[in-house]
Formats: sequence, structure tokens, C-alpha cells
Amino acid sequence: MSDDEQAIRIDAGGWGLTWAADGDGVLHQVGLGAAGHTATLDVDAVWYPLALPTYGGGDAYLPAPLRVTHHDGTLTTRLVVDEVTRAAEDDGEHVVVALRDELVDLTVELHARTHPRSAVLEQWIEIVHAQPGPVRLHDYDSIAPLLLVHEDAELVQFGGSGWADEWRWTSQSLHPGTTSLASLGGLQPHLQRSPVALLSPFGPSDETSGEVLALSVAWGGNTRIDLDVRPSAEPGAPRQLRLRAGANPYAADYVLDPGRRFVTPTVAWTWSAAGRREVTRRFHDWSRARVLRDPERLRPIVANNWEATFFSFDEARISGLIRRAADLGVDLFLLDDGWFGTNHPRDDDTTSLGDWDADPAKLPSGLAPLAQVAADAGIRFGIWVEPEMVNPVSDLFVAHPEWVLRDPREPRLHRNQLVLDTLRPEVREFAADVVDRALAHDPGISYVKWDANRPITDPGSAMLGPDRQANVGVDHVTATWALMAEVASRHPDVELMLCASGGGRTDHGTLRWFHEFWTSDNTDPVTRVRMQWGCSHVFPAAAMAAHVTRWGERPMEFACAVALSGRFGLDLDLESLGEEEAQVCRRAVALARRTQDLVQQGELVRLVSPVEGPDRSRAALAHLSADRRRAVVFAYQLEEPTSAPPRLCLADLDPEATYRVHRTDLRRDDRVELGTLSGSELAHDGLEWAPAAPTTAAVWELTQEG
Ligand code: GLA
Repeated sequence: MSDDEQAIRIDAGGWGLTWAADGDGVLHQVGLGAAGHTATLDVDAVWYPLALPTYGGGDAYLPAPLRVTHHDGTLTTRLVVDEVTRAAEDDGEHVVVALRDELVDLTVELHARTHPRSAVLEQWIEIVHAQPGPVRLHDYDSIAPLLLVHEDAELVQFGGSGWADEWRWTSQSLHPGTTSLASLGGLQPHLQRSPVALLSPFGPSDETSGEVLALSVAWGGNTRIDLDVRPSAEPGAPRQLRLRAGANPYAADYVLDPGRRFVTPTVAWTWSAAGRREVTRRFHDWSRARVLRDPERLRPIVANNWEATFFSFDEARISGLIRRAADLGVDLFLLDDGWFGTNHPRDDDTTSLGDWDADPAKLPSGLAPLAQVAADAGIRFGIWVEPEMVNPVSDLFVAHPEWVLRDPREPRLHRNQLVLDTLRPEVREFAADVVDRALAHDPGISYVKWDANRPITDPGSAMLGPDRQANVGVDHVTATWALMAEVASRHPDVELMLCASGGGRTDHGTLRWFHEFWTSDNTDPVTRVRMQWGCSHVFPAAAMAAHVTRWGERPMEFACAVALSGRFGLDLDLESLGEEEAQVCRRAVALARRTQDLVQQGELVRLVSPVEGPDRSRAALAHLSADRRRAVVFAYQLEEPTSAPPRLCLADLDPEATYRVHRTDLRRDDRVELGTLSGSELAHDGLEWAPAAPTTAAVWELTQEG
């Protein structure tokens, strides 16, 4: 089979994937990579791997991405191509390769959606069958390409130790055997490990050079990215790497009834031949085009009361904070946890989730007076909810103990709460109504922080029969997504923040109904710089909420400068700020206002890494406007350095143009003009970053003249 016409080329925009069926109809991968989709298609002459190995249909020595026990007990699956369809879509296309089993009734569709503008490819698999009864899906990865990698291939993963440790950067070499990046916990998997990986197949890459493949599993539940590496027979020869990614099937065998369609999560991925920055540009473009809600809308500057008050406040206290927030120039005040509970006031985290009426002791006239205070002060108002959860000490639990996601054992509490079973339509209606009712208090409420503060530890649903309890892992995610989609469609103008004990649920799938996420409860700026660095590889700063708090007791101007490179906000006791600190915050808000279009909608350039290289004591990054006329540069000295700071060279401005350079020192009143530099000087000599003490920051703004 050497006929080009039989090739199924998926051009993802500068890179791609090619499949082709052999004479028996078996689908092979015949090209992959930066130029791989143009590889030779002579599959008779050369060995090509299967496009989707199945258990019993391919390699007997490695776990198969697809493993099904058929209704008659057959354990194996062997697929041949049935039909290929291609449909133009947006600026790309949607390719579907339908495969069918040779023996039993089973159709497996490989879906690929291209988005050439960003060069991110979305892939997933859909499975249907018409066997006389259900089949059982054991493994159901969304992608399974085979790569040839070098011995010095490098993997970057983002697993942390749990709460307050999201996006921890780990780079590692790949050894023969299977490296498994798995997350569990059902509801907050990203506290354990973000379903994102960077792979440099031919040796380490950096920001501007080297081949690098980045992928993100767009799934709000457990995920798994497995990298199976085989040693090469010849020393130094390329090694085979089978990359499998998708939902984690651990304890989640799926019973699929005839006629029902099983859809795996989408895996979004790209392959750059020009280093990590290009990967980031692509993921940011794609996130804006296909994931984030209202990407063109500037995110507000937020003041939050959580770290200032925790559960202890009343109307007067919040009113005071709102007025102070408005005085400092923010756009929106977010009232966090603790505002609700009638029979059981929410004075700590032991009660009240489920009882979503305002606490009459704290807020005797409800939320409306606070929304009014905000409106009178000229700012917006938002609230916190946790609609998927219930405390046993609540009216809701007394009325509906059966609404809880659980098995026959007594369910275990986590943060004193239980998870509601969103597979129940009445739970979805209740949870959607939580948001409706809260917003009905006042039309001025236009922002909601949606939290979820525990993992799933006792999976089980009364909505599923005894033989399909393990379906809950997948069905809970799709049911919760249906709930989120409903809320988003009922309130198209309300901005939604996604939160789960910090950044416990920040995948590209769930994010489709949200505007942004709470990156982490850890707001120590030294840690945050590194977290935001990792997170920035696949999410634009517009999505990364970053608030100034007292975590780490760092200097206020440093904490502000770190939050300024995300979606800026303040979570401080604004009323007890001294005049000096208040001035720092005021200047930071003004700086956020001047630079938020660059930070949120511009192009990110990472300049100095805090997670790699011999001196990891500092970080620097820049955000450039699309027209390259403006830029903002942030430089952070985190710890004691072991080397002198490098000059910060920006290669991407117009070399012929002249840029006026301002430096803002948040401790002082003025914005100092440093003169002008040409784009070419900025590229070659760069900005001078003078040696600086730990926990200090420098911020430059560049504006093209003329
Ligand atoms: C979680 C969130 C915090 C805060 C608290 C409230 O921990 O991550 O930002 O909202 O819940 O209980």
C-alpha cells in the first residue's frame, strides 16, 4: 500500500499525524511530528505501529489503550477501518475514522479536530456497540501515538504533594518501563497532579529551541498519562515510546449498554519544533478560541475577603471592606465562604453547606444591602458557593440524606462535608438553583466563585445498578459538567471562577464553563512565581487568578508584583492596611489597570526560569501586545542568588522601532522614565536587571513611540 490517497492526513497546523490502513484494513500510524505527517506511506516495506492497539489486537507485551470485555465474554478486540469522514469546521476540520471489530459488534471512532490557527489538535474516541447486552470497558485512553525518542528525552510533569502545592515542576529523563502520571480523588485530581505533560523526545528543549510535545487531558475527573518506553536493541538508537493519555480507568471499569455512546475525554496536544514558548503560544491561542468563556473580556480586578475575615464577619465589616476596596480602585468585591446558613450558621467549616440562604445573624437583610454598597461605591459584587457539597449538619442533609454520593458504608467526611450525587437530576436542579437564588438576591451580583473542597472517597451512586457502580467515575464528571453548562447558560453575563481547595480542578474540559480559576490557596509569592510559571505553559494569565495575601509575610510590593503577572486581585484586610501599604496596593491596582490587556490577552515570553538551570533564585517574564507596540516585563528575585542577574533581552519587538521605557517601583509614588531603547537594543542588550535582594521585584513598561 503505497498509494498516497489511502493516507489519512491530519494537518494540525505545522505538524500533524498520518494514519493509513493496510491491505487487511488495519489502521497504522505512518507519520507523526513536526513534519511527520508527510512521512513515506510505504507500509508494506517498512514496519509501522498500530494507530490504536487493542487488547488482543496488537502488542501482547504492553497494556493496550483500549481493552474491552465483550458481552459474550470475549476478551480481545481487533479493529479494521470501516469509514473515514472529514468535515470542515471553523478554520480546521473534524476527521472521524470509524473502526469496527472483525468479530463482534463494536464501533470505535477516532475523532480528531484540528485548529490550525493555534496548531493544537484535539483527539478523543467514541465507542458504541449493538451486542446483545452490555460490554465492559477496562481501558479507554483518548490518544495512543507511538514516538521514537532519544535516550536523553525529557519529561516535565506538574505533580505536587497535595493541597497548596499545585503545578510543582519536575523534569525527568525517561527510562525503559512505564512512567505513569496518574491522578485520583475524582473531584480535585489536580491537587495531586495536573493532567498536563511536556515531552522533549529528542533531548531537552528550552524556550526557543528543541522539539517539544505538550498535552493536556481535558477531563474533570481522574486522569492518566502513561509513557511506555522500550530500550533500543542498539546502544544510542531511538527508543519506542507509546504515549497513552485520557481518563484514568483505575477502579472505573465502564459498563456500556448497547446503543449507548461512550465518549472519552478530549486530549489537546501540540508538537513544536521551536521550543516551549511556541507550545505556550499555541495552548494560549487554543484556550482562548476553544476553552475560556468570553476570552475578549478583560477580567476584573478583584478584592476578596477570605484571608481577611475567614468566617467571621457581619454586614458592617463587609461593607467597610467593600468601600475600602472601591477606594483602592478595584472592580469587584467577592464575598467568600461564610455568608449563608439559617438554622446552622456557617461560622466554621463544620456546618451549613446545602443551606444557601444568608445567615440572618451576619447578614440580617441578606446579600442585597452588600450588593447595594458595592453599587454605590461604583464596583461589582460577587459571591462564593459550593453547590456540589453538603455538611451533615445542615437542613439539606436532614431533608435529603439520600442525595449523597456514597456506597453502602458510612461515608467518610472530608473537611466535615460530603459530595452530592450529581447523577441525580434533582441534585443538579438543586445545585443550579443555588446559583439562581443567590443571584436573585440582587441583580448586581455578577460574579460567582464555584468551589469544591473535598475529593471523592466513597464512590457509588444510587442512580447506577449494582453491576455498574464503577461507572460513577466517568458519569459523575459528565453529570457535573451538565450542571455547570446549565448554570453558565442560565447566567451568560455572570463571570464564573473555578476553584477546588485552590487549584484542584483546573482542566481544559471543566474550564469551558468558567472564566478563570483559583490557581492555588498557596499565595506565598515566592511559591506562586514557580506555580504560575508551570501553569503558564498551557493556561493564559487571564485564567490564573492571583491575589495578594499575607502568606509568607513577604513585602507588599513584592506580593503585588507577583499577582500582577496573573489575573490581579487583593485578598487582604484592606481596612487595617497602614497608609504605606495602602499606597502600594493603590499603585498596584493602577499598574494592573495599565497592563491587564497585555497580561491577559498578550503573548507571554518567559525569560528567566525559577525551576531550571544552576541558579533558580529568580524569574523574569514579559507580556507583549499582539501588535508588538507595548510590553510589560516582570522580574522577581525570590531567594539569595548564586549568580549575577542576566540582562533581559526581548527578541520579539520591532527592531526598527523606538520604545520608551518606564520602571515602576511600587514603593514610591512615581513611575520613573528610563529613556528610550530601540527594539534592536532591547533584543541584543536588553534591560538591565541590577543585583537585587530576595523578595524584590522590578517591573518595566515599554511603549513604542510614534
Ligand atoms: C477553599 C478555597 C479558598 C476559600 C475556602 C473557603 O479552600 O480554595 O479560596 O474559598 O475554600 O472555605
